[in-house]
Amino acid sequence: NKKKTILDIQKMKSAGEKITFLTSYDYPFTRIMDECGIDAILVGDSVGVTFSGYDNTLPVTIDEMIYHTRAVVRARPKALVVTDMPFLSYQTDLRDARLNAGRLVKEGGAEAVKLEGGANMAETIRAIVDMDVPVMAHIGLTPQSIHRMGGYKVQGKKDEQAQRLIEDALAVEQAGAFSVVLEGIPMKLAERITAELSIPTIGIGAGPYCDGQVLVIHDILGLCEKYSPKFVKRYADASGLIAEAVSSYISEVKKGEFPDEGHSFN
Ligand code: KIV
Ligand code: NA
Repeated sequence: NKKKTILDIQKMKSAGEKITFLTSYDYPFTRIMDECGIDAILVGDSVGVTFSGYDNTLPVTIDEMIYHTRAVVRARPKALVVTDMPFLSYQTDLRDARLNAGRLVKEGGAEAVKLEGGANMAETIRAIVDMDVPVMAHIGLTPQSIHRMGGYKVQGKKDEQAQRLIEDALAVEQAGAFSVVLEGIPMKLAERITAELSIPTIGIGAGPYCDGQVLVIHDILGLCEKYSPKFVKRYADASGLIAEAVSSYISEVKKGEFPDEGHSFN
């Protein structure tokens, strides 16, 4: 059980072994999921929604991403650590993109970065890869494009849209991305893209035919009550568990049952 690198992740595609990603934003969650054997951790800009409580990912800053990456990396995970480049940290120009990708690695400890976009971001991906920072691309439903998309909607349903997504996938591979997230696209399209690319595809709301999967940890634990998209599967009711513990604590303190002598000093 040794440290995983982008090479291990890429080998899994050719070996036909499914790749597991989960988001994490802090030390304790990282420790737990790394113990379980997760292949890669995504410090996603979804942190803006799950942790900070914003309505979408747009307000998240590069300093916030560095802060959360540091917390994750302090758990010394065996899993590969990939950090999202937040909105406005790479779209303005190539210098900004390189500087901010470099900050995530240098100050945060990220081992790779992820950014949203396809053919339109090919030059940016190339610029970052050229300074030896591995880049993961993210196409389809790209949450930073919420205002263009008019909400979080499945992408690539129409033929010409699907064709453009295939071209985006080929463009990011050509630009040097080591992997690509396919989010919110029809499963047959994800299957086709996965077959055409030599880099691994990591799906979220993209069906069963991708090389790997990613989900937001708060979603699989039932910690996000705001809305739950169809592609999310809840593996636990952590909200219920926390509420139960907190309610018991309140009730025991109110009744004078806690602290008892067993939890006190002589
Ligand atoms: O920010 C995030 O968590 C993500 C994944 C869900 C792909 O980008
Ligand atoms: Na993200």
